[in-house]
Amino acid sequence: MSDTRPFLALRNIELALGGKPILRDCTLNVDEGEVVVILGPSGSGKSTLLRCVNLLERPDHGQILFRGDDLLARHVSPSDVRRTIGMVFQGYHLFEHLNVRENLLLAPRKIAGRHAIDMAARAAHLLECVGLSNHADHYPHELSGGQQQRIAIARALVMQPALMLFDEPTSALDPEATEQLQMLFDSPALEGMTKLVVTHDIGFARRIADRIVFMEDGVIVADMQAETFFSGQVTPRLHRFLTRAMPEFAFAAPLSEEDPSCDNVPA
Ligand SMILES: Nc1ncnc2c1ncn2[C@@H]1O[C@H](COP(=O)(O)OP(=O)(O)O)[C@@H](O)[C@H]1O
Ligand SMILES: [Mg+2]
Repeated sequence: MSDTRPFLALRNIELALGGKPILRDCTLNVDEGEVVVILGPSGSGKSTLLRCVNLLERPDHGQILFRGDDLLARHVSPSDVRRTIGMVFQGYHLFEHLNVRENLLLAPRKIAGRHAIDMAARAAHLLECVGLSNHADHYPHELSGGQQQRIAIARALVMQPALMLFDEPTSALDPEATEQLQMLFDSPALEGMTKLVVTHDIGFARRIADRIVFMEDGVIVADMQAETFFSGQVTPRLHRFLTRAMPEFAFAAPLSEEDPSCDNVPA
């Protein structure tokens, strides 16, 4: 029997913070192996949506299903969830008082209780994968932003997550470090892994995305195959909307006819 459970499904997520609605009726399905990129203006709720997926925020309403499990069920422990759903934060969040090796080994020792020798070997392998095996004894402040980010990625991968969340991974990187990050996404360490990636970097999105989701004001206004998005094969209404929200979108030419399948776009 085939497994028809969604890999990740967000259903009708609602969240208010400080009395203000931040996420409104957000529904999103992610298939295993898919790379879904979330675009949208600042303040549209992208980070908050990512934070809900690994339970750093708890929606007021709605469901989050991960491989069939209801993550919002009472008995689910957030630390268990974060073992299988890794997150790379915008500011990397490395432990400044620990060297690179210790940063990688802290979570598995604390959370998973795995055998220390296996984990040390795995950490060493991941440092090699991210091109930083010579930096195991360095402290975060001795590394560039791009290097710190690759350590943060390696640290998340130590737990062998099934899903990785990235919040604006290129926002602090120069073009060379962005290129290295793109190569890492295509490398065996990350290739094929299901990823949910928030970015403002349209070139990066074009390179990595299978699907594009566009958020505005807490609402998912568009959800389409990356090919459709980048070929501009969207309705004139969606095209006008995207160009207004994201001037970089002007590169794409709209379809000549209105297509009612594009749904949540404000007129
Ligand atoms: N803890 C919070 N309390 C109140 N408002 C918040 C909180 N966190 C985020 N917000 C607000 O939620 C909205 C969406 O934020 P965020 O998800 O960070 O947007 P994005 O990542 O798209 O820039 C913003 O208006 C932000 O000010
Ligand atoms: Mg954000």
